[in-house]
Amino acid sequence: MIGKHEPSHRQGRASQAVMWVECKVLEAGCGGRRRSLRSTVMRLPCSFWFLLLLGAGGLLLLHLQDLTETLQQQNQGAKVIFSQVHAIRKEPCPYCPDNNRQTDPTEDNFPRSAQPVQLPVFPWVQRSSQINPKDITAAHVTKSHRKLLLKSGLLVQQLNADPPGQIKENPEQLSQVQLSRQRLMREVCAKYTSGSTKQTITRMHVSRIFVEDKHKLLYCEVPKAGCSNWKRVLMVLQGLASSTGEIQHDEVHYGNHLKRLDSFDQNGIIHRLKTYTKVLFLREPFERLVSAFRDKFESPNSYYHPVFGKPIISKYRSNATQYALRTGAGVTFKEFIQYLLDVHRPVGMDIHWEPVGHLCSPCLLDYDFIGKFETLEEEANFLLRSIGAPSNLTFPSFKDRNPNAERTSLEITRRYFAQLNVTERQRAYDFYYMDYLMFNYSKPFKDLY
Ligand SMILES: *[C@@H]1O[C@H](CO)[C@@H](O)[C@H](O)[C@H]1NC(C)=O
Ligand SMILES: *[C@@H]1O[C@H](CO)[C@@H](O)[C@H](O)[C@H]1NC(C)=O
Ligand SMILES: *[C@@H]1O[C@H](CO)[C@@H](O)[C@H](O)[C@H]1NC(C)=O
Ligand SMILES: *[C@@H]1O[C@H](CO)[C@@H](O)[C@H](O)[C@H]1NC(C)=O
Repeated sequence: MIGKHEPSHRQGRASQAVMWVECKVLEAGCGGRRRSLRSTVMRLPCSFWFLLLLGAGGLLLLHLQDLTETLQQQNQGAKVIFSQVHAIRKEPCPYCPDNNRQTDPTEDNFPRSAQPVQLPVFPWVQRSSQINPKDITAAHVTKSHRKLLLKSGLLVQQLNADPPGQIKENPEQLSQVQLSRQRLMREVCAKYTSGSTKQTITRMHVSRIFVEDKHKLLYCEVPKAGCSNWKRVLMVLQGLASSTGEIQHDEVHYGNHLKRLDSFDQNGIIHRLKTYTKVLFLREPFERLVSAFRDKFESPNSYYHPVFGKPIISKYRSNATQYALRTGAGVTFKEFIQYLLDVHRPVGMDIHWEPVGHLCSPCLLDYDFIGKFETLEEEANFLLRSIGAPSNLTFPSFKDRNPNAERTSLEITRRYFAQLNVTERQRAYDFYYMDYLMFNYSKPFKDLY
């Protein structure tokens, strides 16, 4: 649709970008209304709006191409086009999501107007004629893809993924690990994005990235993977505090001290993407999912219970009590998974359980550092030393959410997944399959394929 032909090894991301823009437009258009009516009646107009906006979005982007500067990234040969579609950004929680205040509605900082986004599940599958079906954002991976990967040996490799907690002693080892993670990520990205011709980065793609200008760091926030402590570190690096220990929880989440990359102008974004260290920290996908579930649904929460709990209970619980329907409290893990995997979700996605492949666009942004929650402190400190952070700054280990609850471990994760049947487990794995593959996490259950 837009952009000129790119070198083949980089092909394939534009359609993804365009698709994302259009999906976001859709969310802004139908998310709120559909939530209140909660029936198939609304789906028709919603699809209609989708098609309408799809057309309009295309035209808009075509037009924007005339207006926006395009830039050839010399080292990558990638074209970066920033469309000025500000209105598309809509999210349930604009801050680092691990916040605690939701139990007190009077202090609740969630903007009331922001509805959870209603992203159609697998739009790339349903509307594959308009987009590249091999798109990396595809949460749903077909069996033929799986075969292809098996053939290439990638799947076999990822089955022997990093054992959690493994100690990597020295900097050379740690840089080797980085190199192999990057190689794998690029390989998987190349496989899933071949065949399309364009690559576009929009503001939307960089909206989850925090900027630290002094040490030239870009950090993409992944909730439930050390995000709060990273924000503390960024605040210290920036000179907003002299140590991570003195930053209170609320300051981290409500202080709004850190800038996001999408708040800069086009040149500012391009310049930072090209010259800063781009960092991503992630976590075993099922563990992250269980951690999010426990955090949002197992303790009182004045946002997630009414906004997500109510529609989930009313759709998936056959004999729900009036109390449950009124409060949205007590969602079970099974009900939560039914919602997650539903093609017609009664309420939109949320960044806490959105795959990292969507949140941080790793195939588009080509991160320089891919860290893992399982070895968080060691890898974070390695990174801090290599960007020249003050030597007395080390990565902290505060647990912000529910400090009395046990941290979600592999063992706890297994306990939750044992509540599901094999079909549900398989579909949940398919949902996060790209995260598993791209970041070399091993298959979490033996009976999965
Ligand atoms: C995946 O992790 C395993 C175990 O640490 C490692 O041996 C392998 O090289 C990794 N695969 C890739 C492609 O990096
Ligand atoms: C680190 O050193 C700086 C000065 O070099 C000082 O201001 C800061 O308080 C120190 N931080 C900690 C945690 O000791
Ligand atoms: C209905 O609720 C009761 C208790 O609340 C539960 O024991 C029972 O299994 C439920 N029945 C169905 C069909 O869900
Ligand atoms: C698994 O649970 C789902 C409900 O989420 C149900 O529809 C499906 O029939 C179950 N499958 C099996 C094999 O029990």
